[in-house]
Amino acid sequence: MTVLPATGGDRPAALEMVDVSVVRGGRTVWSEGTFSVAAGAVVGVIGPNGAGKTTLFQLALGLLPVAGGRVDVLGAPPRRGNRRIGYVPQNYTAALGHAIRCRDLVTLGLTGSRFGLRPTSAAERARVDEALRRVGAYDYAESRMSELSGGQQQRVAIAQAIVDDAELLLLDEPLANLDLRNQQEIVQLLGELHRERDVTIMVVAHDLNPLLPVLSEAIYLLDGHPHHDPITDVVQEELLTHLYGTPVGVVRTAQGDLFTRAAWRDPAPGSQR
Ligand SMILES: Nc1ncnc2c1ncn2[C@@H]1O[C@H](COP(=O)(O)OP(=O)(O)OP(=O)(O)O)[C@@H](O)[C@H]1O
Ligand SMILES: [Mg+2]
Repeated sequence: MTVLPATGGDRPAALEMVDVSVVRGGRTVWSEGTFSVAAGAVVGVIGPNGAGKTTLFQLALGLLPVAGGRVDVLGAPPRRGNRRIGYVPQNYTAALGHAIRCRDLVTLGLTGSRFGLRPTSAAERARVDEALRRVGAYDYAESRMSELSGGQQQRVAIAQAIVDDAELLLLDEPLANLDLRNQQEIVQLLGELHRERDVTIMVVAHDLNPLLPVLSEAIYLLDGHPHHDPITDVVQEELLTHLYGTPVGVVRTAQGDLFTRAAWRDPAPGSQR
């Protein structure tokens, strides 16, 4: 195993697990989870449907108990409502689907959503504006979420996650349903947030390609266990083929860029059968 870069300096690990196992509905989802994500890392979380990627985030958020082992988040045990973590759940924007205004959604990231919206101070409103500007969503701050495109909604969701200056961002499939341009713009935004705020970012994705420019490492859920390695060790044909259970090719361009592709080929494309 390659040693991961120590990006955290003196800071505690952003997420550390020691021999963690997790059980849902009486079934072990995964076990023997031992890894440490250094503060300041940008980590892809990958694995097939049902492997337990969302479950991993839910452990970090204190929404699920471990069946065994120990979890530490930003140097302390997980607890619900930890304001140091910004979270964008999977299918969040689709699940919202209702009439909430963008500005109000971002405000909830600052004031907490348990009791709904409360009156805000001028300083709080300024922070909401700043977050909306930062993600490029200020122009549609007064729009309702249901009136926006998928890419616009994802920006607002990220604004909600960063408005309280989170140190750890957990983004569950933020690129799902986005076109290529929006995927690239969101990834660019994540890269900028990482550089500007030194925030640790963990992002679940099925397609690694758009994220490769920003990822330093990946956690992959293989054969019922989480593994954690530098991204260049993970983007390997054999590993990805095993992980997804279908042939995956890895190509390096003349410019040195890596990308993955489905290696399955129709034996006679276009021919009649
Ligand atoms: N609320 C729940 N109760 C019981 N089992 C659950 C619950 N939520 C998820 N599971 C099970 O836990 C396992 C892991 O689910 P999880 O949602 O973490 O997978 P995932 O890797 O995020 O999948 P996907 O790529 O489809 O989002 C699955 O087998 C799923 O059926
Ligand atoms: Mg999931």
